[in-house]
Amino acid sequence: MQGEKVVLAYSGGLDTSVCLKWFEQRGAEPYALYLDLGQGEPAVDVKKKALNIGAADAFVRDARAEFADEYVAPAIKANAMYGGRYPLFTALGRPLIAKKLVEAAREVGAENIAHGSTGKGNDQVRFDVTTASIAPDLKVVAPVREWGMSRPEEMEFARENGIPVPTTKESPYSVDENLFGRSIEAGPLEDPDHEPTPDVFEMTAEPEDAPDEPRHVEIGFEKGLPTSLDGREMALVDLIPALNVIAGEHGFGRIDMIEDRLVGIKSREIYEAPAALALIQAHRELESMTLTKDVLRFKAQVEQRYAELTYDGLWFTPLKAALDAFIDETQKTATGTVRLKLYKGSATVSGRTAEKPLYSQDLATYDPNSTFDESAAAGFIALWGLPARQWAGVHGDVESARQKAE
Ligand code: ARG
Repeated sequence: MQGEKVVLAYSGGLDTSVCLKWFEQRGAEPYALYLDLGQGEPAVDVKKKALNIGAADAFVRDARAEFADEYVAPAIKANAMYGGRYPLFTALGRPLIAKKLVEAAREVGAENIAHGSTGKGNDQVRFDVTTASIAPDLKVVAPVREWGMSRPEEMEFARENGIPVPTTKESPYSVDENLFGRSIEAGPLEDPDHEPTPDVFEMTAEPEDAPDEPRHVEIGFEKGLPTSLDGREMALVDLIPALNVIAGEHGFGRIDMIEDRLVGIKSREIYEAPAALALIQAHRELESMTLTKDVLRFKAQVEQRYAELTYDGLWFTPLKAALDAFIDETQKTATGTVRLKLYKGSATVSGRTAEKPLYSQDLATYDPNSTFDESAAAGFIALWGLPARQWAGVHGDVESARQKAE
């Protein structure tokens, strides 16, 4: 890498700080890029820290709105949940980080980008494959995957090279966080039978400590996009943090699951994603009012595939673009409101309205003046049940026929 420029995704933490120095020692010219995806204020002045360590330059950029509008919004429309449970916030952030690294690489004329992922997780795949998809001419370097240093060795390296080393007792957890959720792994959580202790959580209250009074919250959607909270219009980038606070206070939004990583490992994951879970639950509910049975069924298959390809680092691919086109078609009518009741760790739908609902009270009502033509039901049932009647005429009932055959 002698003489080459490299743009590193820099968090300000130990790993990526050591990466900067590692590049410098190899004669490369490292640039640091810190992106704000809503992970909260960094503990240090990241720009100053990167420059002190030896970065040729350091950029700090706010990508929250782009993250909300271009990555989170499509995922909400797709009700994307990996394994049916994980709302994919980390997986959604990686393609954006890779895209921003590529942009920065073009600005400084770098031929490499770099990230601090290890060789055991999904994130390396997402960074590498996204870069291959959007900038196949760039090389991706992953120092942590290459150097094989243990944590104590890394700290020793940092000390020798004047990189600030955490002095307080290190948290046993590995945390990744953005606007749309927080993931907590490692330490005692690696035992799948170990119940997470309260210190694991930051966004959600212990359900038993949550307020005794339930809180109703109304989410408004326009064409599938969440646009208001309790009647107040808000951009998605502001709505998500606001809903995180409301739902988190009521202890809603925790997930504890065993997840199948792309690299073949089963891992135990703890997530906090109050807004993500609430928004997807509400969005699904609205769709139950606006989509036909056929579209709902088919969309469920698309949603699963969408979640998988997001998880697997295939965000910038033709399959994703094609599925987006299908999903956007289904969202044209997804305008309305959903009310959730939050109470001690749960969120229950307590009401829904749609601008153009397929639900019709006139049809559904048990009132005698319903517009549903009950006399048409008998003929429909005669034909619907014809194959069953035919089979029974030939074989008798299924249960006796099975016993006879044994
Ligand atoms: N298991 C989740 C995923 O693959 C979260 C990963 C969190 N990443 C991290 N570097 N701690 O998307």
